[in-house]
Amino acid sequence: MKIAIDGPAGAGKSTLARRLAQKLGYIYIDTGAMYRAVTWKALQKNIDFTDEKAICKLVEETKIHFEYNSQTQKVICDKQEITKQIRSPEVSAVVSQIAAFPSVREKMVQQQQELSKDSDVVMDGRDIGEVVLPDADFKFYITADIDERARRRIDELKNEGYDISFNTIKNDLKDRDLKDTQRPVGALKILDNSLVIDTTDLTIEEVLAKMLAIIQGE
Ligand code: DC
Repeated sequence: MKIAIDGPAGAGKSTLARRLAQKLGYIYIDTGAMYRAVTWKALQKNIDFTDEKAICKLVEETKIHFEYNSQTQKVICDKQEITKQIRSPEVSAVVSQIAAFPSVREKMVQQQQELSKDSDVVMDGRDIGEVVLPDADFKFYITADIDERARRRIDELKNEGYDISFNTIKNDLKDRDLKDTQRPVGALKILDNSLVIDTTDLTIEEVLAKMLAIIQGE
């Protein structure tokens, strides 16, 4: 069973995907974390993030994997845990640029398909239903109003110890939405067979219940 979840930043995809995977006993693969891990490494190594070739080489040299327990997912990059680091504003500001490189996406998609090959998975990102898992059993498109998405991101970042203004976050989300929807390869879009859920006025539990009802055919 393959479940694809796409949608813009801050719509609640990761939380939903993780919770859904827990409920169903499937593996959760956070593809955004993979793009973020490479971005983090490029920043650490001072690699020019506008240089597609250099970033592509970095992807080839980098081993990203996930470790799970019942509540959390750890992101491990070349044996170092970087779960927190990849959520930093510095990484968020650059990740969409790196994710726009076609050769980088090609390599990432291969890795993601490999990770999901022999398992039941819930995978979230931007191009999952269209490119990574085109034969997915369910393709959800999770969205929310931009102001609500900005408020959620602020809360998340506050928990991580960052204090960033509403307008800064909103502008970052707008900028990423634009980059994620306009790129020539792997762009975020609603597909003909997407199951669209607007989460603006819904709690996580309510959205989860909707998704489970669809999956379980209720
Ligand atoms: O879901 P997120 O905010 O952690 O994703 C970080 C960035 O990675 C996002 O701006 C777009 C990019 N991304 C992508 O291009 N394709 C994916 N499958 C997942 C994320």
